[in-house]
Amino acid sequence: MRIPIIGGNWKMHRGIPKDAKEMLEALIPLVKDVRNVDIVIVPPFTALSIIDIVEGTNIKIGAQNMYFEEKGAFTGEISPLFLKEIGCEYVVLGHSERRDIFKENDELINKKLKKALSMELKPIVCIGEHLEDREQGKTKEIIKGQFEGTFNGISKEEITKIVIAYEPIWAIGTGKTATPEQADEVHQYIRELLGNNYDKQTAESVRIQYGGSVKPNNASELFQKENIDGGLVGGASLDANSFADIIKAAQK
Ligand code: PGA
Repeated sequence: MRIPIIGGNWKMHRGIPKDAKEMLEALIPLVKDVRNVDIVIVPPFTALSIIDIVEGTNIKIGAQNMYFEEKGAFTGEISPLFLKEIGCEYVVLGHSERRDIFKENDELINKKLKKALSMELKPIVCIGEHLEDREQGKTKEIIKGQFEGTFNGISKEEITKIVIAYEPIWAIGTGKTATPEQADEVHQYIRELLGNNYDKQTAESVRIQYGGSVKPNNASELFQKENIDGGLVGGASLDANSFADIIKAAQK
């Protein structure tokens, strides 16, 4: 059985350690009794010091990005070694904002992914289509291309360590959620790709989160779908009560 995973992607919000601490101190008691859901907070780099606050709780910490080298002249980049050293457990790779605004492509994300795996950071890898793709009936084609490019050269053993986040770009931060059926259809297709590229058992074991305007009022409908293993939450993760409700909705 796959354990659902809920990520709170704070994006470029709550990067001041004091704000991040306040948010976490509100969240910790609300979710302390939650079992069988992996909870990951993904703050800006400047607030990664909250790692100290979550110690001993059921909350883990992830980074929003990393570079594929450990050290060197790479001004402005973050080393996976530093992340590992400070106790960061997860790393989000290939978020659509990285792809679209910062022009990251599948090849670069693939390099980062291989590096993250080699450092034993747990990658959450995002894929998803634009609205035009969906309107032109190209969703599966786009997903297949991103899947093949991003996971190029990833072994069967490695893919089971990856969390895939399906995030239709038209649903991110727009308040437009994919319907549970629309989301589940793509999740099922991703499982099909996993089955074709690896095998059926692998396809059944990889966790696939949904992301894009997940809110307390739509979370449980989404998470009840067979192929949806939790969510990657942006806006609603910035409020402790909303985020706690979403986490509880993932408990099976
Ligand atoms: P949203 O963001 O929940 O605000 O739509 C999701 C994401 O970008 O991961």
